[in-house]
Amino acid sequence: MLIDGFGRKHDYLRVSVTERCNFRCQYCMPEKPFSWVPKENLLSYEDLFKFIKASIDEGIKKVRITGGEPLLREGLDIFIKMIFDYKNDIDLALTTNGYLLPKSAQKLKDAGLKRINISLDSLNPATAAKMAQKDVLDTVLEGIQKASDVGLKIKINCVPVKGVNDNDILEVLEFCKTKGYTVRFIEFMENHHAKDGAKGLNSDEIKAIISQKYPNFKMVPRDTSSPAQYYELEDGFQFGIIEPHKDDFCAQCNRIRLTAEGFLIPCLYFEDAMSIKDAVQNNRIDEAVEILKKVLAGKPEKNRWSVKDDNEVSSRAFYQTGG
Ligand code: GTP
Ligand code: 5AD
Ligand code: SF4
Repeated sequence: MLIDGFGRKHDYLRVSVTERCNFRCQYCMPEKPFSWVPKENLLSYEDLFKFIKASIDEGIKKVRITGGEPLLREGLDIFIKMIFDYKNDIDLALTTNGYLLPKSAQKLKDAGLKRINISLDSLNPATAAKMAQKDVLDTVLEGIQKASDVGLKIKINCVPVKGVNDNDILEVLEFCKTKGYTVRFIEFMENHHAKDGAKGLNSDEIKAIISQKYPNFKMVPRDTSSPAQYYELEDGFQFGIIEPHKDDFCAQCNRIRLTAEGFLIPCLYFEDAMSIKDAVQNNRIDEAVEILKKVLAGKPEKNRWSVKDDNEVSSRAFYQTGG
């Protein structure tokens, strides 16, 4: 079992397979970075898989593939199949912007993928284009539909940003309610890579907008393994809000992140990281597991987004950690 220094059991591994992305979301990567990590610095699927296997043996029960945009890396379905074939009862999931799903959803499902989380910040084509800085909406909607048609379980992520998509919350909620998708609104997590001046809506502001149409929603008892707090409308539909500024879900944090370059990251907020690259590339898997345990032992108690100091902002790039 993987336990950190605060006694938290870790059974959730998030693996970023690339930092590259075909969108330029204002809250994440508004501009192309000065340079991408060269391809030869990335861990191969075989090396990533060696580490995933060892982590599963140590107690990981949920593996989520992230990016950047993970579907930009060729052969992702083959990688997913490697994991599925090793242990088919793993909760095997993917987080994507959805743009490449029309062509890949079927292959991913066939490979053994079970669930998929897709960003949808607006249903207005111009607003979606303003957020991602590219005309994306039609293709993303087609991708969501395709993923649903092939039988993948869908969750929608929406990050409300002031002056961009704050008027789109109800429409996104309504869309998910009609389609039967789970939806979570995520408070923008301030970071040095986001667009200058970007401001998110906090949980109270999001709830105030939703209560304009649904004044009587109720808080649902917390599922401690989820970062989201869920609320239930009178008709039984539930929506979630992820509130990193409250940092209360940190007490139950069960996740560890691996970047495409082989860095293990204990917390999304902090720069701390240790590399398993040399160990896995040279088949010293026991050493990689030791590094994992060391990273967990030093994992911070909670993030610092709750600190009300505008100068103190996370320097971690979401496109490298995969959110
Ligand atoms: P499920 O497995 O469906 O519960 O998904 P998930 O919420 O773990 O994954 P997803 O990639 O959809 O994550 C949604 C977003 O929630 C992330 O991209 C982050 O923005 C936020 N989030 C998830 N985990 C953490 C965390 O440990 N800390 C913070 N601060 N935010 C998190
Ligand atoms: N704040 C909150 N959520 C973010 N995401 C990316 N950057 C941020 C940020 N700064 C979310 C995206 C995507 C997931 C991977 O992370 O909406 O759904
Ligand atoms: Fe790309 Fe996802 Fe970042 Fe948007 S949030 S720029 S889709 S990695």
